[in-house]
Amino acid sequence: MTIYARIMGTGSYLPGDPVSNHDLVARGIETSDEWIVERTGISARHYAPEGVFSSDLALEASKRALEASNCKVEDIDLIIVATSTPDMVFPSTAALLQNKLGMKNGAPALDVQAVCSGFVYALTLADKFIRSGSNKRVLVVGAEVFSRVVDWNDRTTCVLFGDGAGAVVLEASTEPGILATAIHADGSYSEILNAPGQVAGGQVCGSPFVKMDGQAVFKFAVKVLSEVAGEALASAGVKQEEIDWLVPHQANVRIIQSTARKLGLDMDKVILTVGQHGNTSGASIPLALDVGVRSGRIQRGQNILLEGVGGGFTWGAVLLRF
Ligand code: UT7
Repeated sequence: MTIYARIMGTGSYLPGDPVSNHDLVARGIETSDEWIVERTGISARHYAPEGVFSSDLALEASKRALEASNCKVEDIDLIIVATSTPDMVFPSTAALLQNKLGMKNGAPALDVQAVCSGFVYALTLADKFIRSGSNKRVLVVGAEVFSRVVDWNDRTTCVLFGDGAGAVVLEASTEPGILATAIHADGSYSEILNAPGQVAGGQVCGSPFVKMDGQAVFKFAVKVLSEVAGEALASAGVKQEEIDWLVPHQANVRIIQSTARKLGLDMDKVILTVGQHGNTSGASIPLALDVGVRSGRIQRGQNILLEGVGGGFTWGAVLLRF
């Protein structure tokens, strides 16, 4: 009998009020609503207030996912958090989240560092833990405070990112859930998107801010996203026309449109949140998934394709039956 990892429930959380493009102009950033909307599709994003960390956003998203799953914290036997903006160098944000959730059952907790592909990587790992029979209920979270690692003097990056978290509870089930996963990395592209600083000797060495060659990233993203989507579909034996919803990483509406076109999907089959959330890196896919579910668009039994690309470079796709 095949054991699948099936999503029992989803949750998400955005901190504070939306910050519009006009608000950024008012804060002195040399940009315009017109430029940001035209080049990226972003109109607003959210920023975590001072003292609020990735684990705090993860906590709120996790509580909602647990509630939607009718699952108690003690029933969770593994926590995986995708984040590139952890609370601390260590412990992991997943361990901090476990404590904030009040979990005392000794379940393992670990972070995944794959930047904007982090949630796809984390789901892939969770799927393998469940299929191997070692775990029954896994909390998978994407949580980020990218506002803390952008250089507010670099208009080419600071207008793009936002903060937030999304979570799912996966359960071992005989009903179909995750049908196929495909993940990849190519570290030779680390120069086109990185945050190169490190902590050593009590000091931050090098720049701790996001640095990106936007056009190089754009081209790479469009190429690998359609390749990896095809790989996941082929491995599950699912045809493009059988996809009910595409839930992509939300970095730029033009990248999303191009991927959808290559998959033969109309934009009305795409969950699009980049306009309101900006790029929340590892949190963007679970945030969009939760928006799709709670708005009633994503329904049980549908085929959902998740895909992401980010620093590393890393990229991947998860095809699942919801
Ligand atoms: O999540 C990880 C993956 N990340 C991505 O997928 C991001 C991929 N890249 C992109 O989304 C796009 O490349 C950007 C949105 C980052 C940039 O869009 P672009 O169409 O590639 O613009 P560009 O970098 O070629 O810049 C065009 C112009 C430049 O001016 P000149 O040299 O033509 O006079 C920039 O200085 O736009 C200028 N510019 C801005 N103007 C107003 C750059 N940033 C801004 C800004 N406001 N915020």
